[in-house]
Amino acid sequence: MYHRGKPIGTIAATTLDPLEDALNYNQVFMRDFFSAGISFLVAGEPEMVKNFLLMAVQLQGNEKQVDCFTLGEGVMPASFKVTVDPATKHETVEADFGEAAIARVAPVDSGFWWIVLLRAYTHSTGDHSVANSPQCQLGIIRCLNLCLKDGFDTFPTLLCADGCSMIDRRMGIYGYPLDIQSLFYMALRCGKELLRREGDVTEFVDRIDKRLHALTFHMRQYFWLDHKQLNNIYRYKTEEYSFTAVNKFNIMPDSLPDWVFDFMPNKGGYMVGNVSPAFMDFRWFTIGNFLAITSSLATPQQSQAIMDLVEARWDEIIGEMPVKCAYPALEGEEWRIITGCDPKNTRWSYHNGGSWPVFLWFLTAAAIKAGRPQIARRAVEVAERRLYEDDWPEYYDGKLGRTIGKQARKLQTWSISGYLLSKLLLEDPSQVTMLCMDEDKRCRTNPLAKSSSYSGGGGSCDKGCRPTMVPGHAHSVHSPSCPLSNPNIRNNSEGGYCGL
Ligand code: GLC
Repeated sequence: MYHRGKPIGTIAATTLDPLEDALNYNQVFMRDFFSAGISFLVAGEPEMVKNFLLMAVQLQGNEKQVDCFTLGEGVMPASFKVTVDPATKHETVEADFGEAAIARVAPVDSGFWWIVLLRAYTHSTGDHSVANSPQCQLGIIRCLNLCLKDGFDTFPTLLCADGCSMIDRRMGIYGYPLDIQSLFYMALRCGKELLRREGDVTEFVDRIDKRLHALTFHMRQYFWLDHKQLNNIYRYKTEEYSFTAVNKFNIMPDSLPDWVFDFMPNKGGYMVGNVSPAFMDFRWFTIGNFLAITSSLATPQQSQAIMDLVEARWDEIIGEMPVKCAYPALEGEEWRIITGCDPKNTRWSYHNGGSWPVFLWFLTAAAIKAGRPQIARRAVEVAERRLYEDDWPEYYDGKLGRTIGKQARKLQTWSISGYLLSKLLLEDPSQVTMLCMDEDKRCRTNPLAKSSSYSGGGGSCDKGCRPTMVPGHAHSVHSPSCPLSNPNIRNNSEGGYCGL
């Protein structure tokens, strides 16, 4: 898409069939452009990325209203398009912040993708002038400030509405969806890196830092599931009161779905889809798990365990077309209630267990980061058998992803760029550094370090709490407010943890 003669982004899909309604697929989607943008950076053509970044931050400044309600000033649009007045040839950029989107949900992910792309651009080109410009500095602060405001939250994770991300329809992801938490973590890390420490900004960066610390602990501790933790949950006591509760969120063992016992390998693990009071969504979500590896939100051991799970559950996650959006699909009554009878999200289709070629790059970046690029190579080979001859569909349907999606667009840009980016990264793995973050040294190993999926190192609390040996106790004792005072964790842990 061009604006005043300059390329400013790529449209979501090219409509081949003149009878097919373009809907909003003729717009530039923030999330869809990400893989195209990174591909341009790897190819040494950063111009379009720069134009895109500046256009997006300009749109962020617009006043945004859905009916009579005004959205927060940091919100970035899901998509935008350039319209030309045929008479005057005057160009207007129109952005959709959710006011036109199906079901009227504002995208939470757009601003995060923008920050991560801005950081990648800066890394790749060495050009700091865009990130340092007053509008981009303000853009970062506005976007993150929306998430860091004080409220009623007792969790460091970000509370979201259903349909606010790549899964932009009702799919039961409201609450604290993993995909958004991983991206939120990534945006906080990138924002922290890009913000210039001047005046009040130093204080703002401190807030970012505090949130990162708490978020890291929460995700590694409470979202992590492997065979050992599954067994712990299976035997959980409920209705525990006080600081010593093991089952902090009052998860009912009966809410464990049957499939998870088959899905969980002996060696391996993953971050679950959602955790909130008396609720754990055990589904696997691809974006969140792979971004957790790329961003180092997952510990090195957890990252290996996630890749182990991908290998052990190859058919379920990769199948005949990589990569499943979520596993397993919602069916029957669950589908009726959770999706609201969505005919596009029927079982094993679209967001409900469909397979999306764009996720190839997420897998590839994670596999390279984890030192296991062969896993990505194998998946790319699987995709190559069909993608080109099928005309780059948006998604595939079926348990194994064998059928071109019921309503999938053809020539979907991010299917092409996702594949292309995988190939480019595998050709030159050093390029992955613009997407990756090193482990935050203050948040060392995981409290569940002795879980079945991996073996952890030694360590102790690093802040506030010094564990002490008390006569009559077999273990050292932590202060009641320390997460390690939880007997379950203490028994499992020899690793250090991310001090709160
Ligand atoms: C669909 C997808 C969304 C994507 C858009 C454009 O609505 O659900 O994630 O951004 O298409 O490709």
